[in-house]
Amino acid sequence: MSRCDIRRHRYFSLYKFLILVVLTFSGTFLIKYTHNPCKLENIEDGTNSARSQICRDELYDLVRLEPEEHSELNCSKILKGDPDAIKKALEINAAIKKDNLYLTEQMYLNLTTDCKHFREFRKYITIPMSKEEEDFPIAYSMVIHENIEAFERLLRAIYFPQNIYCIHVDEKSSAQFKEAVKAITSCFDNVFVASKLEQVIYASWSRVQADLNCMEDLLKSNIQWKYLLNTCGSDFPLKTNAEIVRVLKSLNGKNTMESERPSQLKQRRWKYHYEVSDHISQTNTEKMPPPIASPMFTGNAYIVVSRDFVRYIFEEPQVQKFIDWAKDTYSPDEHIWASLNRMPGVPGSSPYSEKYEQSDMNSMARMVKWSYQEGDITKGAAYPPCTGLHRRAVCIYGAGDLSWLIKQHHLFANKFDPKVDDTTMQCMEEYIRYKTLYRDHL
Ligand SMILES: *[C@@H]1O[C@H](CO)[C@@H](O)[C@H](O)[C@H]1NC(C)=O
Ligand SMILES: *[C@@H]1O[C@H](CO)[C@@H](O)[C@H](O)[C@H]1NC(C)=O
Repeated sequence: MSRCDIRRHRYFSLYKFLILVVLTFSGTFLIKYTHNPCKLENIEDGTNSARSQICRDELYDLVRLEPEEHSELNCSKILKGDPDAIKKALEINAAIKKDNLYLTEQMYLNLTTDCKHFREFRKYITIPMSKEEEDFPIAYSMVIHENIEAFERLLRAIYFPQNIYCIHVDEKSSAQFKEAVKAITSCFDNVFVASKLEQVIYASWSRVQADLNCMEDLLKSNIQWKYLLNTCGSDFPLKTNAEIVRVLKSLNGKNTMESERPSQLKQRRWKYHYEVSDHISQTNTEKMPPPIASPMFTGNAYIVVSRDFVRYIFEEPQVQKFIDWAKDTYSPDEHIWASLNRMPGVPGSSPYSEKYEQSDMNSMARMVKWSYQEGDITKGAAYPPCTGLHRRAVCIYGAGDLSWLIKQHHLFANKFDPKVDDTTMQCMEEYIRYKTLYRDHL
């Protein structure tokens, strides 16, 4: 080849390269602007395809939950346990408290007058993220009484159009609170307030009844949900909906919840008749023993149960009798589910043999840090000390808890409270959102 030929050859390559660049860009442009809005088919278009990636990026732009006004907050570092980033989070929290930057009931009432705007402004995800999730709807029974922002942020974290959400608002909550909850639910077809509301008295039957009211409503819905999870207002998910679906599928019809042999002290809770007024008090009247052939167990109020379990408790006379018997016991939420889950014949239950004891740490329903179990793990403590603060001996998580918390297998953790620690909740929101869109860690 002559010098000239070589030159021409070079020009030709450059020319080809330019055409390629133009084609690639226009292709990307076409994909980007012809599939609007981003739909499930686009997301599912092969996990790594360009179309799927663009769709995910686009959607993430719309629903990204990232601390904007406080860009010094680095959740990626906090989730890795970086001490400087955690210290910074504390300062930011103090500033939020000082400026009282919380969403009020009135603000929610205002925002929800335009539902489309509300869903966009609050960044709800309004499409299923996979066919697998679409085909596996989950029912939620959410029992709440105050703190509208905490509730709405929890709902936003777990909201997907294929699931169904029943909200039980305490009858004694303020009119404003009830109205704001009602307004939020009115912006979604699959979120509703329970048809019967209880006045929830601490440690009384009313707490169980609240869940039962929701369960009954949820069974009537057209959505064929597969599992039911219950939450209170201070819970937050540790897993994405996709991860929860995978866990529920692997349970294969079994329930998961804390369920252990009761201590002597806890047995007093059903040995005596308790009176309920605006509080609960023990009497000296002894109760009949429980009307079940299997032993009693104790656990907590949080359960992950199959649809068959829920249906069974409303249909089975044996269970109805047990429920009637339990109505005057102390804190029945902490023994009714646990006992049913070890009763032969109950769908998803486990045998009452001691081989099936499940502590709260071994079950999947809820991660709770109790103050008296915290300490040095190498010296026998259950978990590292709470870095937030305690309410009724339960840790309200702080930023320093997160790196440990996100490694736990539980589907949800309790307690989170934006009024105590907003940045901790912000980081959990960013963590869950990122993982929801990209199925990967921050
Ligand atoms: C947060 O820290 C990571 C390093 O862990 C860094 O890559 C990232 O850019 C930081 N983000 C912000 C918003 O500062
Ligand atoms: C609600 O909206 C009204 C009218 O638009 C406005 O005057 C009021 O300040 C708003 N309240 C809150 C708390 O945002």
